[in-house]
Amino acid sequence: MAQKICILGHKGGTGKTTLSHMLCHGMALLGQRAVAVLTDAEREPLSKEGRRYVTVDARSDEALVRVIEKLDSIDGWIGIIDGGANRIELDQHLAGYADLVLLPFRDSQEDVRAVIKDLERFPHAMAVPSQWPNNLWARRSADHLLAQQLDGLGERLLLPVSTVSASKMLLEDPVPTRLPTVLNNACRELARQVLEALHIVVAEAEAPVETEVEPEPEATPSVPESLPEETAPEEPSLAGAHADGAEYDISKEEV
Ligand SMILES: Nc1ncnc2c1ncn2[C@@H]1O[C@H](COP(=O)(O)OP(=O)(O)OP(=O)(O)O)[C@@H](O)[C@H]1O
Ligand SMILES: [Mg+2]
Repeated sequence: MAQKICILGHKGGTGKTTLSHMLCHGMALLGQRAVAVLTDAEREPLSKEGRRYVTVDARSDEALVRVIEKLDSIDGWIGIIDGGANRIELDQHLAGYADLVLLPFRDSQEDVRAVIKDLERFPHAMAVPSQWPNNLWARRSADHLLAQQLDGLGERLLLPVSTVSASKMLLEDPVPTRLPTVLNNACRELARQVLEALHIVVAEAEAPVETEVEPEPEATPSVPESLPEETAPEEPSLAGAHADGAEYDISKEEV
C-alpha cells in the first residue's frame, strides 16, 4: 500500500499546491517514487513532462476514488494529495485516507489562527511554516511569531520551508530540465523531514545539502543567472509491482 500524504487547510494561498510539488520533487531526489494527486477543480492538470514524479488528475469524485484504490494496491510509492482551499468536508474526507496530513501556513496572525483551528480538526496533522522569509529581519519576526503562538506543538511543527522564488518552476508545464540548486535543496530538506515523520528510512545517496540562501525574491528575478543549476540526475524508475508480481507503471495507468 502506498503512503498517502494530504496537504490541506481551509485558508487559500498558503502554499498547498507548491508544497505538494516541492515534496514530490524532493521525494524523487531522495530516490522515492512519488505521485502528485490533483484534487483542486480550480487548477489545470500538469503533465509528467520534465518531472521526476508522476502526476494524476483526481478532480472528480470518481477519479479520486480510482486513484486512492490504485495507491492502495501498490507498494513503494508515496501519493501526495494537493487539497484546495475552503473545502472543509472534502478535507475531512481526504484526511481519512491519509497516513499524514500537512497544513502549510504563512507568517501572519491570520494564517496562524487558521492553522491552529486546522490542527484541532486533524489531530494527526503537522503544521508546515510555508514561504518563510529569507530576509534576516523578516525571518526573525516570523520565527518570533512561531515561538509565541505555536510553542508547544513539538513534533507537530515541521521546520520552515523558505521562500524560494524558483518553486514556481515546478508548476510549469513542462518543468525546465535545469532547476536551481536552492530549489532542489529546499525540496530535499522538506522530503527528509516528511520521510522521518512517516518513519521511512532512505539510504542517503545524495551529496550533502548546500547551505545556500536565496536572496530576497522581491529583489531578484525568479531564476537569477547567478544561481547554480542542477541537471536532472537519472530519473528514478517508476516501475512498481502489483501484489501478484506483475510490473506496474502508474504513469501508464488510466485513472
Ligand atoms: N516556498 C515558496 N516560495 C515562494 N513562493 C511560494 C512558495 N510556496 C508558495 N509560493 C507562492 O505562493 C502563492 C500561493 O501558492 P499556492 O498556489 O501553492 O497556494 P495554495 O495553498 O495551493 O492556494 P489555493 O488555496 O488557491 O489552492 C503562489 O504564487 C506560489 O508561487
Ligand atoms: Mg492550490
